[in-house]
Amino acid sequence: MFEKTVNKTKAWKKLEHHYKHFRKLQMKDLFAVDPDRAKKFSVNFDAMYLDYSKNRINDRTMKLLLNLARECDLENKIKAMFKGDKINVTEKRPVLHIALRNRANTPIYVDGKNVMPQINEVLAKMKKFSDAVRFGEFRGQTGKKLTNIVNIGIGGSDLGPVMACEALRKYWAKDINCYFISNIDGTACAEVLNKIDPETTLFIVASKTFTTIETLTNARTCRKWLVDALGEHAVAKHFVALSTNTKEVEKFGINPENMFEFWDFVGGRYSMWSAIGLIIAIAVGFENFERMLEGAYAMDQHFYNTDFEHNIPVILAMLGIWYNNFFGLHRYAVIPYDQYLQYVPMYLQQLDMESNGKFVAMNGEYVKYATGPVLFGGAGTNVQHSFFQLIHQGPEVVPIDFVIPAISHNEVGEHHEILVANVLAQGEALMRGKTVKEAAAELKKAGKSREEINYLKRFKSFEGNRPSNTIVFKKIDPYTLGMLIAMYEHKVFVQGVVWNVDSFDQYGVELGKQMALSILPELQGTAYGIGHDASTTSLIELIKKLRK
Ligand code: F6P
Repeated sequence: MFEKTVNKTKAWKKLEHHYKHFRKLQMKDLFAVDPDRAKKFSVNFDAMYLDYSKNRINDRTMKLLLNLARECDLENKIKAMFKGDKINVTEKRPVLHIALRNRANTPIYVDGKNVMPQINEVLAKMKKFSDAVRFGEFRGQTGKKLTNIVNIGIGGSDLGPVMACEALRKYWAKDINCYFISNIDGTACAEVLNKIDPETTLFIVASKTFTTIETLTNARTCRKWLVDALGEHAVAKHFVALSTNTKEVEKFGINPENMFEFWDFVGGRYSMWSAIGLIIAIAVGFENFERMLEGAYAMDQHFYNTDFEHNIPVILAMLGIWYNNFFGLHRYAVIPYDQYLQYVPMYLQQLDMESNGKFVAMNGEYVKYATGPVLFGGAGTNVQHSFFQLIHQGPEVVPIDFVIPAISHNEVGEHHEILVANVLAQGEALMRGKTVKEAAAELKKAGKSREEINYLKRFKSFEGNRPSNTIVFKKIDPYTLGMLIAMYEHKVFVQGVVWNVDSFDQYGVELGKQMALSILPELQGTAYGIGHDASTTSLIELIKKLRK
């Protein structure tokens, strides 16, 4: 276990010192004096190109940041994850999403047992089943082809599938439609059930634990809807489960033969590569699902084998730490300029914030430094017209990752060139800014009076020096999507290592769940006043009254 407090390391101290001298430097000046800067601070790996030159860094910054990673024993931590050590210390579990896409099939041992045969077995079962659904060999109770595929799950059992299905929409089989029910709000269920026909619907109940109240409640509602229409026998033809918990799946009334297993060594938010990805495989075909695994595997190999200087996840992670812990910037945005990637930020919110939003370090002590930032985002150019005002002129700088494919799946007229022009313009504008003097000169040129110029010039100025990374792909396909997501998984892992938190537990979601369970009987009128604060008690009473 890493016992040293990161903010007491030599590298951290040096970075603090470096920051003091460096924080005022302007990126545009660094570009002006170094014609090689763009080349120097970029990495091309396989189908991915990362330009990180628009960051507030120089050679020394990178050297110190990478030294910090070394001082945190990152190299050994990476090895420990890949070989199946129990690095999820609080839950005493290995963390092996990398095994799910281990295309070389090299053995990986957990408690002396190679996990690859069981992973391959489930992948083979997924292939067989997804093919059977796609080609109409596995049909519904009344003999009709299953063309409406409904994933019922939440958190990691929903966000990965939603994000990947949307990202790969162009690869969907023509006659297949995917739906997702996650929220306990009855609207989520009702809206989907209104659109589909029980005879052509396959429900996939996705839950690692198979105890999550939202998923089980939604699954029961859908089961009843199906049984009301087609009878109890139909369940076997219209329901499958994805879980680690065979006992609960059986208890729910799904035959374990219709269950696709995964294991405790796969965290919920890291599970889209497992059986949880079944809806992706049905939508895009198993070959494409495998391409996604291959892309992720390529990134795993890059992460495992590449020196830190050229290692994309390590570089991104350490840049994030530079801003979060030294500049004090605790927000971070991911902006894909691709409509199909619109759910990537939402997916990354769970990946990043559930993994590293922690205040206790591995040694059981409270951390004395910032950990996971607030992550937000959305698809460009839409977000330019919503929150980019704050990104450009808000007093707190928000570091950004831009993601852009060079080629669109829908090359319509000049749309894509306009899209690309915008993402590049945003990066440049954030970096260069516009001085008050420049703004004044523009106003003058526009014929404004001296009084107007003096008043407006600051409103019209941009301080610039705002950092961004640009991640470019030729095209978003299953392979590049796999690379992109695995890249972020490893980035989050590296940051967790540096902050010395357990990136693979999620105790922070428990308290609210517990309290909801105690409030429920009060709302239902079977229990009264169980020691809440005055605000909660009066809200319970108000809502009960309104519901009468
Ligand atoms: O509430 C958080 C969480 O435990 C996530 O970590 C997980 O992805 C989600 O709930 C769903 O859990 P399950 O797959 O067990 O239903």
